[in-house]
Amino acid sequence: GPTLRQFADRADLRIGTAVDMAALAEDRTYRRTVGREFDSVTAENVMKWESVEPRRGVHDWKAADDLVRHARAHGQVVRGHTLVWHSQLPGWLTAGVADGSIGPAELRGILRKHITTEVKRYKGRIQQWDVVNEVFEEDGSLRNSLWLRELGPSYIEDAFRWAHAADPKAKLFLNDYNVEGVNPKSTAYYELAKRLRAEGVPVHGFGAQGHLAIQYGFPGQVAENLARFEALGMRTAFTEVDVRMILPTDSDKLATQASYFRRLLDACLGARSCTSFTVWGFTDRYSWVPGVFAGQGAATPMDEEYGRKAAYGALREGL
Ligand code: XIL
Repeated sequence: GPTLRQFADRADLRIGTAVDMAALAEDRTYRRTVGREFDSVTAENVMKWESVEPRRGVHDWKAADDLVRHARAHGQVVRGHTLVWHSQLPGWLTAGVADGSIGPAELRGILRKHITTEVKRYKGRIQQWDVVNEVFEEDGSLRNSLWLRELGPSYIEDAFRWAHAADPKAKLFLNDYNVEGVNPKSTAYYELAKRLRAEGVPVHGFGAQGHLAIQYGFPGQVAENLARFEALGMRTAFTEVDVRMILPTDSDKLATQASYFRRLLDACLGARSCTSFTVWGFTDRYSWVPGVFAGQGAATPMDEEYGRKAAYGALREGL
């Protein structure tokens, strides 16, 4: 039957998924589905710092290269994820900061080199980069991360400038969770984006991850939120959509899940700025959710056997 990708093409939307490189290597059905259903891919893990520089100065690009090559062979664009984050940092870096052997000046140089090296490696082959990920707390204050503590708040604009210098054509994004609707956290992003753009910092997009849970309800004012970033001249995207639930599933929960996927998709389709909608995995077989949220799961549009859930149908009908 027709696929999400075919419908998205007509709707002028990039429909993406996070890709688990181990599954891509060993599971034929997974591989076939990625190619058929999606025209955009994001590395679920293999472009993160701990993956690409496991030892200081020693890079391992194999898995990331494989994804970029696979995407090209299947006519897919790539979202780069992610350059600056507080999580999944290499052990040598966090240990060096903790024991004082890497001081702030050296750390700033290390960050600059990391961004420059990774962005240059994939220059021209990454459409959108998540430059900074999860830099605000829920209350809208800057997250107390290693980056903020060691470098101060200017690390954010530095990161965008360095990424832009390395690939002037890539669209550079802010990215976070719990920022789909209007709330203190998304408002902090809005104020940051407004200021940085006024100062000429190359910030081009706002990514809302879209990790929802049916037991928490659907976020308020999603359309208004996208519209305010659009009014700044920015792109918007949903970058990591999944909708988890407390297990076991039942048909009511799955119907609610379907409606949440559909409402995020509709918000995206309703905003000119929103040209990319990515799910964080498409099958419950490999979703990150059960490993992180105890007792929850079934968060993706296909079940563990690749059966299309109500959420899959809702997405395809929405496109
Ligand atoms: C998650 C991956 O899905 C897991 O496999 C990994 O163990 C931890 O990271 N926000 C993000 C993503 O920006 O990078 C995270 O991905 C999920 C939350």
